[in-house]
Order: sequence, then structure tokens, then C-alpha cells
Amino acid sequence: LRHLLTLDGLPRPVMEALLDRAQAIVDHGVAGAPLAGQAVCTLFFEPSTRTRMSFQRAAQRLGADVLAFDASTSSTTKGETALDTLRNIEAMGVRGFVVRHAADGAVASLAAAAGAGTALVNAGDGRSAHPTQGLLDMLTLRQAKGRDFSALKVVIVGDIRHSRVARSDLHALRTLGAGEIRVCAPASLLPTDATLDGCQVFDDFDAALDGVDAVMMLRLQRERMEEGLVPSLEGYHRDYGLTMARLRRAAAEAVVLHPGPMNRGVEIDDEVADGPQSLILRQVANGVAVRAAVLEALLG
Ligand code: CP
Repeated sequence: LRHLLTLDGLPRPVMEALLDRAQAIVDHGVAGAPLAGQAVCTLFFEPSTRTRMSFQRAAQRLGADVLAFDASTSSTTKGETALDTLRNIEAMGVRGFVVRHAADGAVASLAAAAGAGTALVNAGDGRSAHPTQGLLDMLTLRQAKGRDFSALKVVIVGDIRHSRVARSDLHALRTLGAGEIRVCAPASLLPTDATLDGCQVFDDFDAALDGVDAVMMLRLQRERMEEGLVPSLEGYHRDYGLTMARLRRAAAEAVVLHPGPMNRGVEIDDEVADGPQSLILRQVANGVAVRAAVLEALLG
């Protein structure tokens, strides 16, 4: 791997090797400091809590130096471009970049212009891709349901139209051979491109939940919605909010995932988010191991 920009087209053996390595890090930690002497920069042009901090934690566990770029106090506020920013940090000897950007394709463009020895990880670009979130979601599902996904019934629920997480999850679930992939959203929050190829599409949440093994909830991304298209929060919760009563329609041992940050009381109720079927904090813990596995594969 030179960069990790998307899970679209990532071969199954590569994906499985990253997940196996992440699981080994969960089980045994990291031996020594494989990235000692290297530097990783978290170059975030959009806000983040989980992704940025877990990449920083992962890089620290690998023994790398960590440079945290803060867009709000950087020279981007004076008009410096993202590419000039990257090139200047490269000039300081940094070869690992974890990049989040609001524009679709922005991280791939930076990767194309970066120096020969530089590696970029896409930490989320626009609505396009969030590959390490997709990987950590797969690791979490594997731990809960086993590594053979062929009998697994999964539903992804909510604002799929604006979700890079949903796109990366769908690529990963298809690559790993998930048995049944359902998506559920109001028509206004469904994508109109090829994102949903091969999925069963529902607008009735109760029907979509029937017998599923995993419920992958999404955040309602109001900041990405065109004015006038933001649904009423009460109506959204009524039709698409995951309540305990609704969760009983899923399989008895069904698990619940959410990438965070959550809109509690909108797409998910407190009793579900904090309940026994929730793997939400397990996802966060797995994020550190997955990101360590990715940094090691790119820079090790
Ligand atoms: N899941 C996720 O990307 O969260 P952050 O925006 O906090 O990084």
C-alpha cells in the first residue's frame, strides 16, 4: 500500500490482513517502536474527535512523533492552500499524513501531488470515503459475529446520502461477502448514484430491522444538507430513530453500531446507545488498533 484513500477496490486479502493485524494489536499490543524516528501529521481541515485522536494515539503507540495541525490557528486562515500546507510540512521531514477535508476527492488530489516517499491516509473527504472507519466497523462486526460474514444480515440506517462512513462500510461489507446488506432511509437521504448497488432498500425502518444481526446507525449530517431539505428532528426520530422497542424487531443477539458523534434522541435513543447491545465504544477502542495497523502498513 502506498496510500489508503478508499476501500473501493481494496482487495479482500489486503483488507483481511489489515483487520488481522489490528486484531493482533488489540490482543497483544505493539512490540517495540516500529515507527521510531518517523513523524505523522494529522492534517485536519474539518473537525474531528475520534479519528484525529485515535490516529494520534496509534502513531504514539508505534513510536512515531506526532504533529497535530490545527486549521483554525494555521496559515490556511491567511489563504494558504491545502497543497502548500502539505508541501511545507513535508519539507520538515514528515512522510506520514492523515488528512480530513470537506471536499470530495481532496485527499486523493493531495496524494497525487505529494512527494514520492510520502504516504497519505484519508481520514474522511466530503461524502466520499472514510476508509479507516469502514475497517474499524468491520473489525467490530468480526469480533461480535465471527469472521465469516456470509450469513450476516446488516442494515445501515439514516443519512446515507451525505455519509462517507456508509460508502466505506458498503464497500467493505461487499468485499467481505456480507450475506444480506439492507439500507434504510427516507428517499431524500438516499444517494442517487451507484452507492446502493446490490443492497435491499427500505423506507420503513420497522421492516428493515426484521431479523437483522447488526444495525449500523448514521448521524443526521445537517451541516451537509441544502437549506430547506433538513428534516424535522421530531419527525425523523419518530420514523428513523432507533428505540429499544424498535431494536426488538432485530435478531435477539443483534448489535448496534454508530460511528459518532451521535445526535442522541434523534437517530438513536440513550437506552440503545448505552445499552447492552451497543458496540459504540468498542468501535472507538478498535479505531486505535485499526489505525495503528494502517500506519504500520504504510510507513513501517
Ligand atoms: N467517526 C468519526 O469520524 O468521528 P470524528 O468526526 O469525531 O472523527
